[in-house]
Amino acid sequence: MQHILETQQFDRKALQDLFDVATSLEGKRDESLRGKILASLFYEPSTRTRFSFESAMYRFGGHVLSMENASESSSASKGETIEDTIRIVGNYADVIVLRHPEAGAAERAASVSKVSIINAGDGTGQHPTQAFLDLYTIQREIGRTDNFIIAFVGNLRYYRSARSLAYLLGKYDNVTMLFVSAPELSMGEDIKEYLREHKVKFEETPDLEGAMKRADVVYQTRVAKEWIPSDDEYQKLKDRYVIKRGMADLMKSGAILIHPLPRAGEIEVAVDDSPHAVYFRQAGYGVLIRMALLKLLLTNHK
Ligand code: CP
Repeated sequence: MQHILETQQFDRKALQDLFDVATSLEGKRDESLRGKILASLFYEPSTRTRFSFESAMYRFGGHVLSMENASESSSASKGETIEDTIRIVGNYADVIVLRHPEAGAAERAASVSKVSIINAGDGTGQHPTQAFLDLYTIQREIGRTDNFIIAFVGNLRYYRSARSLAYLLGKYDNVTMLFVSAPELSMGEDIKEYLREHKVKFEETPDLEGAMKRADVVYQTRVAKEWIPSDDEYQKLKDRYVIKRGMADLMKSGAILIHPLPRAGEIEVAVDDSPHAVYFRQAGYGVLIRMALLKLLLTNHK
């Protein structure tokens, strides 16, 4: 595999291999990527994705070239295209981790790149490495990736991680998806069509409490201001599905509440010490998954 652009590239076996490598790397540091260089090229803000990739590279003894706010601080501000930037950065690094506001940007980058491109989020397209760590979290925390109910909550229309995870879960058996959102933020027709084709059960419902009582996994999302068409619409929608402590207490024993983070009020702080709240552990798993992905791309690891 040369590039990581979308979750559909991974089948069940590839995912399990990735997860096994991730688990084997817990607490490990070695020098297996000594001399290799990772360039992180971020045209959109990030805390978790950029730092966890960079931390993963350092844990393998590699080096990092890091550019945040690339729309302003790179030559994109002078009119350079993403294709030209990638051609140039490919001379300086062995792998490029790219976050960009336009859906399809990672694919455009890969089409001209001589080094591996990792899609770290492309607009409202996909965020595959987040979906891998979300699925890894599910496996670690509830002990299975088949036979469970997952409620996706909030911003399903514009939330690339939720879209990526829905694609991934289509590969597993007897997974039921509950889509809880306002009509303006409902899951996209492309995903629903994919789920119908793959005979994955899904229901759309406005009833958050009902979904939280049924689900083994609740996946909360942020009503991302940057992707909502207008501020009026954002103000109308942002507090529609806030998870409060009393709602978390309705969840089944062993059920988990996850969120890719950052949050912006959609899970109350009072939920953080609930036994169901695993979103901060989930962010920690990101380093393991990204270490495993770098091993996959940059070494002959099988
Ligand atoms: N979950 C996620 O992608 O977080 P960042 O935007 O902080 O990278």
